[in-house]
Amino acid sequence: DTIHVLNGPNLNLLGTREPGIYGAATLADVEALCRDTASRLGFELVFRQSNHEGELVDLIQAAKGAFGIVLNAAAYTHTSVALRDAIAAVGVPAVEVHLSNTFAREPFRHHSYLSPVVRGVICGFGPQSYVLGITALAATRQAGA
Ligand code: DQA
Repeated sequence: DTIHVLNGPNLNLLGTREPGIYGAATLADVEALCRDTASRLGFELVFRQSNHEGELVDLIQAAKGAFGIVLNAAAYTHTSVALRDAIAAVGVPAVEVHLSNTFAREPFRHHSYLSPVVRGVICGFGPQSYVLGITALAATRQAGA
């Protein structure tokens, strides 16, 4: 089984980007954490990042048939009907994750176009949000839920 971890715009800058909000870990650090978590739980992992909305649509479509998707769509979370429709179209269980607690931030970050079409949402735990997202997907396998 494969889990696709997909990252949206500006997450390539993690580590130097607003470290007070997003922390010191780089995207490579987040990827290493995800690879450890996935292999411990017996999953293959695909880990990708794009700054481009259409490419993220393609990456979601390419995950069709996968066990699950962990998606940090970054700013597109708050703007993108196209990403929402892609998640709904592929029919793969998805977890929306965010490093920061978006609900403790500006009001425009409180709304997500994705939340209604994902299995669940995890935010506010830094890179551990990804670990929790992968673990939550894995738990649905054990539970058959
Ligand atoms: C983010 C939160 C978004 O509001 C923001 O646009 C990001 C990152 C997070 O992981 O905390 O780029 O998705």
